[in-house]
Amino acid sequence: MTRLLALDEVPEGEVRRVRPPGVEPIAVVRVGGACFATQDGCSHAKASLSEGWVEGHELCCPVHDGRFDIRDGRPMCFPATDPIRTFPVQVVDGVVFVDLRGARTDQEVSG
Ligand code: FES
Repeated sequence: MTRLLALDEVPEGEVRRVRPPGVEPIAVVRVGGACFATQDGCSHAKASLSEGWVEGHELCCPVHDGRFDIRDGRPMCFPATDPIRTFPVQVVDGVVFVDLRGARTDQEVSG
């Protein structure tokens, strides 16, 4: 598990971008008091999902309005058709830890 940020840094119903060393940027979302983590890059085209917004359990892309379920990454509406990666989250003493074993490395992202 990798420490990403303090829970207080993610207000309810919002998303924050975190850039852990060596891997792709991660979007951290807080809904219903729970935290979720997904890849930050949209699966449709080049966009940062953390620049979008949250509606219920959906993370909405700011570029073409594609939507993803933050619980399992599945695309919820066109033009998003491919899922995004999601990562297990654990909150301990107000700190958000994420299991980034499935994250793409910097080399995979840039290559
Ligand atoms: S870039 Fe996200 S839906 Fe197109």
